Amino acid sequence: MCGIIGFTGSDDPFGALLDGLTLLEYRGYDSAGVALVNPSESGGIWRSRAAVRAQSIPELKAAADPPAARAGIGHTRWATHGAPTEKNAHPHLDCRGEVAVVHNGIIENYRELSASLVAGGHTLSSQTDTEVVAHLVEEELAGGAGLFEAVQRCSRRLRGDFALAIVSAGEPDLIVATRQTSPLIVGRAEGLGVVASDISALLETTRELYALEDGQVAAVGPGSVEVVDRDGQPLEPTPIRVSWGVQAARREGYEDFMSKEIHEQPRALADTLIGRVHDGLTEFEELALSDEELASIERVVVIACGSSYHAGYIGAASLEQWARIPAHAEIASEFRYRSPVLDGSTLVVAISQSGETVDTYHALREARRRGGRTLVITNVVDSLMAREADGVLYTRAGPEIGVASTKCHVAQILLVQLFALHLARIRRALPPEEAARLAGAIEALPGLVEEALGKAERYEKVAEELSGVNDVFFLGRNIGYPIALEGALKLKELAYVRAEAYAAGEMKHGPISLIDRHSVAVVVATRGPLWPKLLANIEELRARGATVVAVTDEGDAETAGLVELVLEVPPTEELLTPVVAVVPLQLLAYAVARERGNDVDRPRNLAKVVTVE
Ligand code: F6R
Repeated sequence: MCGIIGFTGSDDPFGALLDGLTLLEYRGYDSAGVALVNPSESGGIWRSRAAVRAQSIPELKAAADPPAARAGIGHTRWATHGAPTEKNAHPHLDCRGEVAVVHNGIIENYRELSASLVAGGHTLSSQTDTEVVAHLVEEELAGGAGLFEAVQRCSRRLRGDFALAIVSAGEPDLIVATRQTSPLIVGRAEGLGVVASDISALLETTRELYALEDGQVAAVGPGSVEVVDRDGQPLEPTPIRVSWGVQAARREGYEDFMSKEIHEQPRALADTLIGRVHDGLTEFEELALSDEELASIERVVVIACGSSYHAGYIGAASLEQWARIPAHAEIASEFRYRSPVLDGSTLVVAISQSGETVDTYHALREARRRGGRTLVITNVVDSLMAREADGVLYTRAGPEIGVASTKCHVAQILLVQLFALHLARIRRALPPEEAARLAGAIEALPGLVEEALGKAERYEKVAEELSGVNDVFFLGRNIGYPIALEGALKLKELAYVRAEAYAAGEMKHGPISLIDRHSVAVVVATRGPLWPKLLANIEELRARGATVVAVTDEGDAETAGLVELVLEVPPTEELLTPVVAVVPLQLLAYAVARERGNDVDRPRNLAKVVTVE
């Protein structure tokens, strides 16, 4: 949540900051702002901010007349403390306008700090938790410290999760960065220093990047990076491995990132498979957990949030069915606080596209603290969670910029299912020929998703029929249930349509009283063992007047004959259905959202990376 960018040593820091902010905007788009260090300004800091939802960067570009400068910091905000107004937009300044701060995360003790600053004569002009940092640095500078030392001292007083980039008029070439939990990257190139919350903003600038660790403070100058701990002890910075190309974070002719990413799904799946299936056997060379360690696991808990939780649900079902190991999925934000019972025989698998989601990150740490073994499935190499776990497996979907997860979601499902097969082999839970058959079926998934994408126009026709609806039920049974959950989430977050998912068998226990002739239900009715029961559920809905849309196997005339609208998908193994069946639901949500004029890449109130609780 929130994007941070900083450049020093640049001939055009304003342009570089706006370009960086554009690439980071998916992290939050309530407001944006930049500060340039310019000794000719009164106070020495020039600042420009705008708070026009999803349009702040063009506003900044149009309104600004930036002075000559060599360094600056910028921020794109997802509001937590304080309304999304210009006054609350970052950067925040100290009393004299000589220190500027951008911040990601939450400073939990800001009230206490702010009270003592006000008592000491400071005037705070925003409602944010961030502004206190500018005033704390101001005090340290007034006491004679340089900016680097001032930030080390201040950061010792801050509690919470934060990533900060700070500039001061007194040292016009310097950016000081520090972090606690919220990630921050620093880097250098010839004559240039950079800071960012996210690698995608820096891909075009340099590959010499370092991940700041908790509690580290970095002095970034033109061409230099120096890192110390909060007590000023020098440290070796941790280099980042960069595997993504520059073009991966560009739209490349698509109208928006979401359609690009939906259409990239076959490639994301194929890349995630590379080197992981050989002659029907799964192989995870990079997995730091040995077969012996995995064989000693007696239970698996999958933790994740949102779409990643849905992937986790599918993973847990696959682990139980194939590896015959007790497994369940939990919402990470709940897991952490309910005092889970764990020990070394429990494997906790955290799934997170970003590897940063704070709920999942803290749940993972809690799992470690309680003695569980941990494995992370993430798309971001060297991300926070990747560095926290006993083992890590990477999806290879490339950067996902659209706020709603699509290609990463399917890649997560594929990878956790491959892992389930792997565990099944280690535990000898499946006959080898059955494991090989399933591995083959997984290898066929990229092709099936390609086929499903070939039906996009037909799915869009269904979406046209549904463009006016305001209330939709999504129903499924067994592995169809997490598909329904994901379909409902996509429609909610993109089209702003109230959408509820239920296990189809639950309808009769209450929700069916909501069904009348105005109701629309999307039923995942592919031909698994529970298909006859789903047909009965469809009949129950129709008897009460509902319009039913069914996700069916290609050519299933029987189901098609029962319902008003059909979303056909190529058939596959029952447990593998989610990767294929989610495609029409993504496109349905996408098309309804576009029809309503919604911004599909930047849905309201959301941000790509959720770094607050
Ligand atoms: C929905 C979506 C979110 C994320 C969730 C977890 O389309 O993208 O629900 O899945 O915020 O994010 P990660 O996977 O980064 O932990």
